[in-house]
Amino acid sequence: MSAEIIDGKQIATEIRSKLAEEIISLSSHGVPGLAVVLIGNNPASEVYVRMKKKACSDIGVNSYEYSFGEDYGEENLLKLIDELNNDSKINGILVQLPLPRGYDEKKVIEAISPLKDVDGFHPENLGRIVIGDRDCFQPCTPYGCQIMIKRTVKNLKGKHVVIVGRSNIVGKPLANMLVQKNDMANCIVTVCHSASEDISKFTLQADILVAAAGSPGLIKADMVKPGAVVIDVGTNRVDDPENPGKCKLVGDVDFEAVKEVAAAISPVPGGVGPMTITMLLENTVKAFRLHNDI
Ligand code: GUN
Repeated sequence: MSAEIIDGKQIATEIRSKLAEEIISLSSHGVPGLAVVLIGNNPASEVYVRMKKKACSDIGVNSYEYSFGEDYGEENLLKLIDELNNDSKINGILVQLPLPRGYDEKKVIEAISPLKDVDGFHPENLGRIVIGDRDCFQPCTPYGCQIMIKRTVKNLKGKHVVIVGRSNIVGKPLANMLVQKNDMANCIVTVCHSASEDISKFTLQADILVAAAGSPGLIKADMVKPGAVVIDVGTNRVDDPENPGKCKLVGDVDFEAVKEVAAAISPVPGGVGPMTITMLLENTVKAFRLHNDI
């Protein structure tokens, strides 16, 4: 039997419409504001920034774009971040990554006030995640994955989650979020990665398998335990054989084959992607409440 499809787009639409209502209910305090900073002309980053600005305007968040060429320079960027940290109309600051060569991403991320770090990349927010303090901003992609997992598997206690990939943006924070003792988590977590000669030893044990390796089609049907829940975080652009000269977006999972083995699976596109932007919006509303003592 074919797996249930975990429809990230549908879940995202539901959460976004609740956020839009929440923003209306908070309007006597003002409007949440998100600064979106884009340096250089990476085409994928330009698309993401456009999508983020559109998502803001759809639900009533004010977005403020700061776009500069590659030659803007780290010093100017750090000065801009300092101004945004002190600007009361700005509740969240997002610096689109990757930054061009010559910019120190670590330094830039650490310059953002942890209280405006709606991406959840600042070490202070990541540290709070490690100790299970939910009074912080959780990085958007793992946060979106956690919500999709919780909606699919009601009781997570003791479930074995295997995460393939150890990035600072997805694998490491998600592992720390899912291991905590709360009802959004309480899982047994394994993280496996490229140092393993045979990741199927691990993936076959997963009740919940999260593929976040950035490797198209890495997870094959014979690497998945029958009845597992599979979350595909991969966003890989590959040549589209049906449209010569064009690219298409594929995940880390061989979707067509794995959907015949899994109990539930998230597609690419239409899975984790829309959830990531939604959690950015949720974090921005959370920051607005925090800054206004609501
Ligand atoms: N580049 C790829 N994903 C992200 C993200 O979630 N936030 C930022 N700021 N940059 C990214």
